[in-house]
Amino acid sequence: MPFPPSLRFSDLNTLSSADLAKLTDLQAASLDETWSTESLTSMIQTQSAFGLGVFDGETCVGFAVYLPCVDDCELLSIATAAALRGKGLAKHMLGEGESSARASGFDRILLEVADDNLAARALYEQHGFSEDGRRKGYYTRANAPARDAILMSKPIK
Ligand SMILES: CC(C)(COP(=O)(O)OP(=O)(O)OC[C@H]1O[C@@H](n2cnc3c(N)ncnc32)[C@H](O)[C@@H]1OP(=O)(O)O)[C@@H](O)C(=O)NCCC(=O)NCCS
Repeated sequence: MPFPPSLRFSDLNTLSSADLAKLTDLQAASLDETWSTESLTSMIQTQSAFGLGVFDGETCVGFAVYLPCVDDCELLSIATAAALRGKGLAKHMLGEGESSARASGFDRILLEVADDNLAARALYEQHGFSEDGRRKGYYTRANAPARDAILMSKPIK
């Protein structure tokens, strides 16, 4: 079943501090790397980070955050709340993010993904990203061997 049509999609730079805090909560619940609300606010205000947050009522259920990087931009992070996974939300967020990146004139979207993150790798491959290289042992794990980072990109011009 697709994600519910009642979800609210908002540009990152229109979100209040309270909404950005909810976004960082979802980041913490979804990924090893955590952001403070202050660091996310600073990324938006001083580094022109862009993207979107998705809300179900007051709850942040998805986000995609991009950072300009000279002529390219990097997909820094993307997540869907566990209860809404498998309903096409990340696919939709990638499409929206790509439209914004293209409208801003970026040449490519870059990203890094752990080699054992099979769901994210499948998502990116389905969306047209291809592998450019690897950083061996880049992601260290508390009680498991380090995993490679796969570097991927997609031309959008
Ligand atoms: C990766 C993630 C963002 C996918 O979000 P999602 O909203 O469930 O993804 P979608 O429903 O839009 O799926 C789109 C495509 O991704 C792939 N995919 C998504 N979940 C998958 C899974 N569990 N296993 C395999 N492929 C998967 C499929 O190709 C899917 O297309 P299909 O439905 O036509 O098969 C989500 O699992 C998540 O938040 N994970 C934790 C955070 C994370 O790892 N982020 C990426 C960091 S690099």
